[in-house]
Parts: sequence; structure tokens; C-alpha cells
Amino acid sequence: MRNWTTLNPPFETTLSMSSFPQHPFTLLTNSRFQPGEAYGAHRSTLLSAPALEQARAVITTWSGYAPTPLCALPALARDAGVASIHYKDEGGRFGLGSFKALGGAYAVARLLCRELGQRLGRSVIHAELQSDPALRQACADITVTCATDGNHGRSVAWGAQMLGCRCVIYIHATVSEGRKEAIARYGAQVVRTAGNYDDSVQQADRDAKANGWFVISDTSYPGYMDIPRDVMQGYQLMVHEAVSALPQWPTHVFVQAGVGGFAAAVCAYFWERNVEQRPVFVVVEPQQADCLLQSARAGAVVAVKGDLDTLMAGLACGEVSLLAWDVLATGANAFCTIPDAAAVDGMRLLARPQRGDPVIVAGESAVAGLAAALLTAQDSAARASLGLGPDSRVLLFGSEGDTDPALYQQLVGRSAAQVLADGAAA
Ligand SMILES: Cc1ncc(COP(=O)(O)O)c(C=O)c1O
Repeated sequence: MRNWTTLNPPFETTLSMSSFPQHPFTLLTNSRFQPGEAYGAHRSTLLSAPALEQARAVITTWSGYAPTPLCALPALARDAGVASIHYKDEGGRFGLGSFKALGGAYAVARLLCRELGQRLGRSVIHAELQSDPALRQACADITVTCATDGNHGRSVAWGAQMLGCRCVIYIHATVSEGRKEAIARYGAQVVRTAGNYDDSVQQADRDAKANGWFVISDTSYPGYMDIPRDVMQGYQLMVHEAVSALPQWPTHVFVQAGVGGFAAAVCAYFWERNVEQRPVFVVVEPQQADCLLQSARAGAVVAVKGDLDTLMAGLACGEVSLLAWDVLATGANAFCTIPDAAAVDGMRLLARPQRGDPVIVAGESAVAGLAAALLTAQDSAARASLGLGPDSRVLLFGSEGDTDPALYQQLVGRSAAQVLADGAAA
């Protein structure tokens, strides 16, 4: 099935393909992408190398910090007809299971420094939060809150516990009990709301206003930019680690998106550093929650309504983060959507020992970028449109491990422990 429309550059298609199990996908090239566009002063106020350095100085002091592994997948690269595929495996990040550990917790730390600084009329630095008993005491009077589909809330709850403030987390109707318990484990009060993710965002906002709490959201909206910017700045440490470990600068990056903060952080990192040689950047979403693709098609942010019912829980978002859009609207080369079944096949593929590639435990939302890379690499039209070829060096971010262990076992057929044991025995 192939379906062309004329855009500039002219490519939009819905396709099926063969080696990776067949799945229809949509690929929309971004007509607003401009190859030589400077990163620019505005975007530098959102995400920048100096602000990343500040984030790095804080996050690397946290107990348990270690760069996550960057896995080379040579067998998969051969199958896909590209030079290399590298997969940054965020499953082990701070024991929380996802890259989100970097963002929410960092934003909590920044919020506490700002708030205590205002109360005391002096600047407060992160190191003092942990070393000064009076400041720690003051933190206990501050409550942070957010809505989450799991991973962001886990990060905020963990950061709050580490830094000694109170935490209330809102989850929507379809967030699993496993994810709920994983948040509660960090001492947060967890509140389940009716409706979808966007409804839980609104509930958190209302309750925060009524109670004088601080919302630590990973999505931005008019009048609320500073905290989501800190969240995204924290994410960039992951990109920095990946680039430091890569043998060569990548030519293609596929990143999964919910509200787009994660993808924008990655896109901005490459754009800021090398406008001439930034990799081809593809944003990947579930078919049922494609607010970024729909926005790219419309040329302005568009909300996607409905229950956003996708297995990829971390990507089940109907509204784009405005900060993310500032980067992705002209910074992404293409937008791609995939069905849930492609994500499940991606999880199974990484869980299977194969010809020299390591076995990787990857959750539902982790593999969207991988699935899109394989689907597009195996289709000649999509391959040509993205410039994928035998010299391409593909970088992927495996954004979570088995953050919902029961669901992982159900989808893959084995637990994470069994997958790793089988991999070690192979
Ligand atoms: C595992 C995982 N990957 C990717 C994302 C997407 O991040 P964003 O919502 O910033 O686009 C999320 C969001 O929660 C996630 O949990």
C-alpha cells in the first residue's frame, strides 16, 4: 500500500514492508525544515551547552550516577543495510528504569533552589540542599506535584524523596497498577483520576493552585515554561553521554515522542553543536497519539483528542509541549507513526539473542525509534527520502527498560531476568 501526496519536499507515505515483521507506518517529511537554519538566540534560551554543563554538575553528584550503556547492534545494522546502529539503553538509569530520571528530579532540584533562594533572599545552590540541615528542614514544607503516565512521576517522586520535599503524583485511568506502585515506592502520594493523560495534567494544575504546591511538569504551556525547560535540560545529559561514547557522529537519529520534550532535547543538542552536519532527525509516535505529526501537517500545534489508547504508555500524549515545538517545528526532518504491534516486535527483537548483538530489555515506549528505523530502512522509498544507505550511522535512544515488568513479560513471553539469562547463555 503506497500513498503519495505532494509536500515540499514531496514525501508522505503509508507503507508495509518485509524483513522486520510487516507493519504499516506513516512517514511525513517536514516541509518547514531548513537545512542551514541557525540554532539561534531564542532556542539558546531554552536549551544550551552552558545550561547542560550546569545540569551535568548537579546530576553526576547524585548517588548511583553512571552513564548508561551505548550498545552497538552490528547484526541489526547489516540486516537494515546501514553502516551502524547504536542504541543508548536507558533501562538502568538510577535504578528508575528510564531516561526520565534525569529530567523530573533535576527540575525538582532547580525548583527547590529557586524557591528557598527567594524565601531566604540569597542564592541557594544544589550542594547545600543535601548538606545544610536547615535547608533540608525547609524543603519538608514544600510540595511538588505532577501528572504522569508513569516514568516522569517516578522521577519527580524520587527527586522529592532524595531532596526531602513532599510529593503528590496524579495518574490517569489506564496507568497500570505496577506503574502506580513504582511511584508510591518513592514515598509519594499517588492519586488516580478519570480520563486521559491531559485530563490528569489539568487536575494536578487545579489542585496545585488550591494547595500552594509546585507543578513539576514535563510539558510546557503558555505561562509555564521554566520547569519543563529544566526537565528537558536534564535529558540532554543522556545525549552528551551517547555522543561521548559514539565512535563517530551519527547521520540519522530516530527518537520517540509523547509531548515532544525528549525528542526536542535530542534534536536541539545536535542542532546547537553542528548546524551543517546535524543528523537527519526523525520524530516517532504511536499511530493513536500523533500530535506532533498532526501539528507538522497543519503547520501549527494541533491537539489529538480521544483516549490515546496505545500500548506505548509513555507516548500516549495528545498535546505538544510548546517548548518542544519551538525546536521540532523546523528542526525535525520527518515525523513517523507506527502501530503498537511494531513496538511489540521491537521489544521481542531486542530480547532475542542474535548473531553478536547484545540482548536488551526494552519497554513498550523504548523501541518506537528502533521500529521506525527498521521499517523505513527496509522500504526503498522511505529509505531514499531519509537518505538512509550503507554509510548511514543510526543512533537510537532506548528510553526505558521493563518499567512495567508484568506487561513486559506478557508481551515478550519472558521476564527481564529470563531474557538476560538466556542472552548470557547464548
Ligand atoms: C519511556 C519513554 N520514552 C519516551 C517518552 C517521551 O517523552 P516526551 O513526552 O518528552 O516526548 C516518555 C514520556 O513519558 C517515556 O516515558
